[in-house]
Amino acid sequence: MANVIVIGTQWGDEGKGKVVDLLTEKANLIIRFQGGNNAGHTLVIGDEKIILHLIPSGILHKGKLCIIGNGVVIDPEVLLMEIEDLQNKGYMVSPENLVISDRAHVIMPYHKIIDHARDIQRIGTTGRGIGPAYEDKTRRTGIRMIDLIHEDMLKKQLDNICDEKHAYMTKILGAKTIDKQCVFEKYTKLGTRLKPFVTDTSVVIHNATKNSKDLLFEGAQGGMLDMDHGTYPYVTSSNTVSGQACVGAGLGPNHIDKVLGICKAYTTRVGEGPFPTEINDELGERLRAFGGEYGATTGRPRRCGWLDLVVLRQSIRLSSITHLALTKLDVLSGLETIKVATAYKSGETIMENMPADLMMHPDLDLVYDELPGWEENISSVRSYDDLPPNCKAYIGYIKETLGVQAPIISVGPKREQTIILENPFE
Ligand code: IMP
Repeated sequence: MANVIVIGTQWGDEGKGKVVDLLTEKANLIIRFQGGNNAGHTLVIGDEKIILHLIPSGILHKGKLCIIGNGVVIDPEVLLMEIEDLQNKGYMVSPENLVISDRAHVIMPYHKIIDHARDIQRIGTTGRGIGPAYEDKTRRTGIRMIDLIHEDMLKKQLDNICDEKHAYMTKILGAKTIDKQCVFEKYTKLGTRLKPFVTDTSVVIHNATKNSKDLLFEGAQGGMLDMDHGTYPYVTSSNTVSGQACVGAGLGPNHIDKVLGICKAYTTRVGEGPFPTEINDELGERLRAFGGEYGATTGRPRRCGWLDLVVLRQSIRLSSITHLALTKLDVLSGLETIKVATAYKSGETIMENMPADLMMHPDLDLVYDELPGWEENISSVRSYDDLPPNCKAYIGYIKETLGVQAPIISVGPKREQTIILENPFE
């Protein structure tokens, strides 16, 4: 293989988990580098459905080392539950195949309370405390995994921050508060249980590159949720573009060989914020029903719309994407016509690139191309040649308009429902 970054190109939920799972066979290390348990990767293995929020999906494969990098924010309670759940399902999870960065920041109970009280209505966050945890990281008041596993450090950090959090939660937000001693006792125990997994993961990764191991970086969310480049302020609180893989794993950029973008054959978005190609009628509901478009983390119905080339152009440019994996193509079967937005139009201005002030264009018009759809159910197709001609034309159109390869085509949630024209990383 090579060292490959896999990232979402839209607003998340593009099907990254399944593609990472497939590519994992060729990789030695699988590394999460941003986000936290706001992500949810659904994998269907045989008849079993597994949803992973924090642990890289490589954990389902024997002999792989999974890494939760420094750029991730970790809810220790959720992580331990995920570890136990996997162990109960018969998967081995131990420090031999999972290591956690000592520099990753911890999501504390007050982060979740603040997220709920403040942002869940405004942004439509997942309510997992992600934003408030990253906020403390940048304020230099965060608690890292290294603090969590050392009782004294945890106590000191809690002493520093709890009074302020208490005042903010009760006086400003009118929310419930936390008991410092209870938090200390509970989190000391969680830290003790996680301690064997915690290490300097940057060194682990560096040593792996010296030994010519293949690295797979597993992104969470998608390009349009990126803190800097997404539809701000309706974004997540980390960078989701490929550059973050280096920062959030602790590795220099020379080690990256390729970037694979995951692109759903249409577009979805969970939570608030602009979504130019959203379909607000029965067709949108049909996509939601056929595509099972409900959040893996929160269960919220996802908003559905047409493919948007403005979004994809931006993701490809920002993340040096050369290859796309096209997912959920089967969901489009049965549509007479498929629309693809090629640009936005505001008054006389045509915009092919995402404007920073998208929010200021409530009257935005869309420039659409229309392509003929196909009737056939393609979920059991296993070879590119057997796809209906209009389906191949749709794939060809995306490749040509965006100037990328599309070597992986997914026609259903199962591992085997994938057409791999070539493994671009072999
Ligand atoms: P947060 O990441 O919980 O702060 O939420 C910020 C925004 O990102 C909200 O609109 C969420 O719905 C969205 N979001 C966060 N994680 C995901 C994801 O994994 N898939 C899709 N949307 C996400």
